Amino acid sequence: MSLPAASKIAFGGDYNPEQWPEEVWARDYQLFDAAGIDTVTLGVFDWALIQPAEHRYDFSVLDRIVQRAADEGRNVCLATATGAHPAWLARAYPEVTRTDFEGRKHRYGQRHNACPRSPVFRRLSRELARRIAQRYAENPAVVAWHIGNEYGGACYCELCAAGFRDWLRKQYSSLEALNAAWYTTFWSHTFADWDEIEPPSALTEHWRGPDHTAFQGITLDYLRFMSDAMLADFLDEKAAIRESSPDLPVTTNFMGMYRPIDYHRWAPHLDFASWDNYPPNDTSQARMAFTHDLMRGLKGGQPFWLMEQTPSFTACRDINPLKRPGVMRLWSWQAVAHGADSVLFFQLRASRGASEKYHGAVIGHAGRADTRVFREVAELGAELERLGGSTLGARTPARVAMLFDWDSWWALEISDGPSRLVRYQPVVLAYYTALWQAGVDVDVVPVTADLSRYDVVLAPALHMIKGDLARRLEEVATRGGSVVATFLSGRVDENDNAFLMDVPGPLGPLMGIRIDEWDAREPEFVNPVRLESGSDRLDAGSRLLFELVIPQGAETVGTYRADFYAGTPAVTRNRFGSGHGWYVAAGLDQEGVSWVVRKVLAEHDIALRYPDVPDLETAFRVAPDGAQLLFLLNHRDEPIEVAADHTGTDLLTGTQIQAGQRTTLDARGVRILRTQ
Ligand code: GLA
Ligand code: ZN
Repeated sequence: MSLPAASKIAFGGDYNPEQWPEEVWARDYQLFDAAGIDTVTLGVFDWALIQPAEHRYDFSVLDRIVQRAADEGRNVCLATATGAHPAWLARAYPEVTRTDFEGRKHRYGQRHNACPRSPVFRRLSRELARRIAQRYAENPAVVAWHIGNEYGGACYCELCAAGFRDWLRKQYSSLEALNAAWYTTFWSHTFADWDEIEPPSALTEHWRGPDHTAFQGITLDYLRFMSDAMLADFLDEKAAIRESSPDLPVTTNFMGMYRPIDYHRWAPHLDFASWDNYPPNDTSQARMAFTHDLMRGLKGGQPFWLMEQTPSFTACRDINPLKRPGVMRLWSWQAVAHGADSVLFFQLRASRGASEKYHGAVIGHAGRADTRVFREVAELGAELERLGGSTLGARTPARVAMLFDWDSWWALEISDGPSRLVRYQPVVLAYYTALWQAGVDVDVVPVTADLSRYDVVLAPALHMIKGDLARRLEEVATRGGSVVATFLSGRVDENDNAFLMDVPGPLGPLMGIRIDEWDAREPEFVNPVRLESGSDRLDAGSRLLFELVIPQGAETVGTYRADFYAGTPAVTRNRFGSGHGWYVAAGLDQEGVSWVVRKVLAEHDIALRYPDVPDLETAFRVAPDGAQLLFLLNHRDEPIEVAADHTGTDLLTGTQIQAGQRTTLDARGVRILRTQ
């Protein structure tokens, strides 16, 4: 089972008509018609509506909402309504509310706030999902199930403490193994009974906050446990759905690079991945591209759904800028370029009250069709209709992979030393940005992925090396590929214990280096690095972290220029088998990272697309019928002139374009060139 059956890109979004009078629904659908909206996500926050008291279920409103959508010919992505629980539930069963990191037992309020281990929450959420599925599974309008909403957060209550101990028993079998894994001899923590183990919180192992822990092992395991505990809730509901709906695909909306939940642990349990794209600012084009690629990588390259994005602005930030004309369209196509088979919004009509009344919507409070935002949505709707199914199910045949690993992310950021300023995302994004600027397609994959089809594998800040990964990376090089690792890679095993060998641990032989010392400096300090390959030379800067490399066979590609280690290697390249291991020991600036990445790509004749036209993004997909689709996205607010590198047809305009022909891509313009 994979994505919902479709003949075109699903277009629409979250729709909450239970919030306004039924007379308005007719107007909503007129506007949906005008905008080409064919898909509505219903019922995300309807628990209290459907179950007004523990022993009373009332589907009358949801029945009318779903029936209306069906009668109007829309596809329904139907939620299980468990994104927020009703007040009566918290009152009758105080266990349901969470205890936070500081140990404060919460009372009823907000949403996404149930203790994942609460038996009553699990029983009632499962029951709700069961009843919803039973009731609507046969309705042909329902195309997908949307379980919960944006799972996240953490709980530190007694139920979670007990659940954690059970999880640990399964994980380690013996306390001896657990004590070894957590290195408890340090600071006299040896546990003699499972019940002595406390969740790592502000009251126990932590100081200053969730990233400062005395024992990384317990904190890492609690992150894994919480991720699994929420997954168990998801699986409860999924199993309940499956009782009456064996065939409809199930998803939940992820949040992209969301640290608390290891989406790779979840991905096998979703029929298709979906996510909500709310970038932090309007200069996050590479970050959004990366996140789309990460989401596509969750299901081995299978397309995903863009479940939410705002048509205009968000409301939850301190400052909520408006998407400029053309930006919503451009970012929608960016999602499609990277593998989305849907373009969905939060939300179709604006809430009148509460915290999201100023959140952007396709239809505003006045219900007008003659607003700029509505017009742009409708234009995109028409465009998607014209495009039809040409991109559905298309795949990205990337030759470059980037490893992304939640364990490494957690381990790096909860580590004491060498530097709190080295964060996982900026390092990963610097390497991704180098590829993005060069117009090279990338698969962002888990460390367990099959690497045999890639010519280049990048492993930025891959702090933790698990299982047989080092061997599989060596295989990439053995058969002629290149592996790129950076500072703070290969440092710890799966329990966050250092390898008893030279840094970079199991990556040492592949990298052909040894590191005995490292230096961390204030952000203002820059150590210049001279990068050199043949006659090509670049003076780049490096910041934050500087590892001192002693080559063990590797050649030097970049050299520190300052401090007592001036003249020693900062970037190396090691022959391994028929390929190479590259090591970047310093926090190079973007120019330096891009220089290294381009050198690596050049060794594999990986074609760069418009590498010297900043802000022109490209992405390539191959449709199931073999059609080759080259996306061009102009992120500038001025036109760009480009020479086509292929002959083909622009699917959005029908225009024929000859290879070499110079054409203009409008400001924030998009082209989908079918080249074959
Ligand atoms: C999330 C939620 C939605 C809504 C939007 C607002 O993605 O899933 O319910 O709150 O944020 O941006
Ligand atoms: Zn709890």
